[in-house]
Amino acid sequence: MALPNYEKLGAFYLGREYDPATRELGPELLYDARDLTTHAVCIGMTGSGKTGLCLTLLEEAAIDGIPAIAIDPKGDIANLALTFPELRGEDFRPWVDPGEAARKWQSLDDFAASTAATWRKGLEEWGQDGDRLRRLRDAAAVTVYTPGSTAGRPLSILRSFAAPDAAVAGDATALKERVGSAVAGLLGLLDIDADPIRSREYILLCALLDAAWRKGESLDLAALIRSVQKPPFEQVGVFDLESFYPAKDRTELALRINALLASPGFEAWLQGDPLDVASMLYDTDGRPRIAIVSIAHLNDAERMFVVTLVANELVAWMRRQPGTTSLRALFYMDEVFGYFPPGAMPPSKTPLLTLMKQARAFGLGVVLATQNPVDLDYKGLGNAGTWFIGRLQTERDKLRVIEGLLGSNAAGGMDKARLEAAMSSLPQRTFLMRNVHDDAPVLLRTRWALSYLRGPLTLAEITRLGAGGAPAPVVARVEAAAPATTSARPVAAAPDRPVVPAGVVEQFLAASGTLVEYEPRLGARVRTHFVDARLGVDQWIDTYYLAPLEERGPAWERAEACARDALEFRDEPAPDSAFAPIPGGVLATPKALQQHAKALVEHVYRTGTLTVLRCPELKAVASPQQTEGEFRAQLAQSLREKRDKAVDDLRRKYATRLATLADRQRRAEQKVAREQSQASHETLSSALSVGGSLLGALFGGGRRASALGKAATAARGVGRIGKERTDVAHAEADLASVREQYVALEAELEGEVSRLESTGDPAALQLETVAVKPRKSDITVADLALVWQPA
Ligand SMILES: Nc1ncnc2c1ncn2[C@@H]1O[C@H](COP(=O)(O)OP(=O)(O)O)[C@@H](O)[C@H]1O
Ligand SMILES: [Mg+2]
Repeated sequence: MALPNYEKLGAFYLGREYDPATRELGPELLYDARDLTTHAVCIGMTGSGKTGLCLTLLEEAAIDGIPAIAIDPKGDIANLALTFPELRGEDFRPWVDPGEAARKWQSLDDFAASTAATWRKGLEEWGQDGDRLRRLRDAAAVTVYTPGSTAGRPLSILRSFAAPDAAVAGDATALKERVGSAVAGLLGLLDIDADPIRSREYILLCALLDAAWRKGESLDLAALIRSVQKPPFEQVGVFDLESFYPAKDRTELALRINALLASPGFEAWLQGDPLDVASMLYDTDGRPRIAIVSIAHLNDAERMFVVTLVANELVAWMRRQPGTTSLRALFYMDEVFGYFPPGAMPPSKTPLLTLMKQARAFGLGVVLATQNPVDLDYKGLGNAGTWFIGRLQTERDKLRVIEGLLGSNAAGGMDKARLEAAMSSLPQRTFLMRNVHDDAPVLLRTRWALSYLRGPLTLAEITRLGAGGAPAPVVARVEAAAPATTSARPVAAAPDRPVVPAGVVEQFLAASGTLVEYEPRLGARVRTHFVDARLGVDQWIDTYYLAPLEERGPAWERAEACARDALEFRDEPAPDSAFAPIPGGVLATPKALQQHAKALVEHVYRTGTLTVLRCPELKAVASPQQTEGEFRAQLAQSLREKRDKAVDDLRRKYATRLATLADRQRRAEQKVAREQSQASHETLSSALSVGGSLLGALFGGGRRASALGKAATAARGVGRIGKERTDVAHAEADLASVREQYVALEAELEGEVSRLESTGDPAALQLETVAVKPRKSDITVADLALVWQPA
């Protein structure tokens, strides 16, 4: 069977419709990728085929260039890495279960060969082949992360205590959420039960993180320990710090965090790739990835910690994305029970709720699956747009799901009896799919998975995957902090420290150790406006300049230029330091300073250029913070938006024409039949069969129902219209002509679709670099200061 080219249309091939009465499979079920932006929930008993379905979703997404982050509590999502386009026994052999082979009295070779044959046959039955597998493999690399373990690719959690970026820090609710869940996660690891209202630990740690992050400062665990002992504030809410949480008790908390930090095995948490959503979703060339975060090897508290962190990072990442109506990325969590319960607020729930509520606008689709319908917050899922409900174990489970569904947005038009009937005795891999974007629910039999569904992989097997060609892990060492004992000692003024005129700000760059020799520099922040209307560039850039001082003034032409954040400033010099002299007169008067600032403007105007990446085809310009990969990922998203819009247009255009044709076909068929057997009142054959064709792809899922539903209604009216005589030949000719037109319509669509496809390949986009000059009137200098730099 020739497969329609769904990929061109942003439609996900999930399986076929299933008719419970005849137990037969109907047309292909094509799911509009965009519907996933309103999230999906998948519920069914163990073995009902949830993981198979969700992996299928991820496969389809990857083929369409959409990346995903998946949390894997059992190890079976890592099956996505088991894709063998050649479908040979030897490909499967390292991964088949030897125990199962033994139970079947088969040698490993034989068992692998028969497994490969099963997969080949399964794929064939579902219209798929090695080519599609290859497409999947080429589309996205699969990486399995193992936080807290170096068995797979470790994932460093340090970042979670790093100051969030401006998008989060500037939003009070977002900051509060992020502080709260970082702290809750940490307390979970420390095995401290944290009640957000009453727990001293919770309140103190939140206040510490909040204070640091507001200033844009990061706290690693060592720094956190120090600030627990010596917080930078004396009040907590209305209470005096000492009476709220006395120093002695705080030391106890500090020791506890320290013990965690120093415990064997904890180092693994600090190694590896940073938990950075952007680089988990896209490789450096901007190609999509499937990032699987395995938590099967962790204990409950650690799992909660990781789920919370990942969800938090997703929230932060999401807020940095521009709005979109197309699907941008997926977040999938299997076995979500315990993380999204009703009536309780474990740390994971806050960010998950935020995702359910807000991710849509940013094109991030959330897919949650569970086998336990009772332990699920249906209110929180109220917005979910697609429900996949598989076989359920007990009546109680069924009732709970029905209640949940009826209380959600998705209920539209369904009643309890209908749901109960639809959900009764669902076979394996069969789901009641309720998509709010479709007219009616359908029964879905999931297609055969491209990936070899081996079942849970062990840590050792994950190591063997070597997923994504893991580079040598980066080790970020953190020394366990020595409890702070000394209070700051007053610094003796250095005898050679030059006296600086009033009005000149003095700063000191951080030095390692004491006995520092400082040299004078002039530093300033410069805001520059780079504009080029023709190229579409309009950017403000902040740069910090640090120039050596000479007799004639600051040598701006030899200045270091960097981001101000890259430098660490202190208000006081390191103890016991020496100072080089300031060349005479350079800083003598405020007027002199003004001249130096002017010279800097001149310098920036003469030498400043902004090199930006640009995509002429889409008339898009990368922002200065963007890497080429990030820019390419963004371009891919705008291409996807364009394609999705084009598909909408196609749908609109063809819906009417198809409905008209279907109408005429029915009329012609009726006439033929009437002529042939006058007495027959039987309902005649159905409207045009469009399943499995390109038109089918265009009208996938419930949309087909609505497009053709219109045609059918029209046809019913026709049946009652006049009884004028027409002869058989005439009627048959009419029918043939309708069929011809149908073929022509398909050919025309084929043309449109390939035109669409040829303009839609993100990898084929050409990028260029262009240089832009600053606008002189828009160069401003601020924070001019005498900066002492360690020699
Ligand atoms: N789409 C599929 N293609 C091929 N086999 C499948 C598919 N879905 C499920 N299976 C088979 O059924 C078994 C159970 O399905 P699974 O998705 O793991 O169930 P659940 O996650 O609901 O417990 C899998 O191990 C696999 O052998
Ligand atoms: Mg499962």
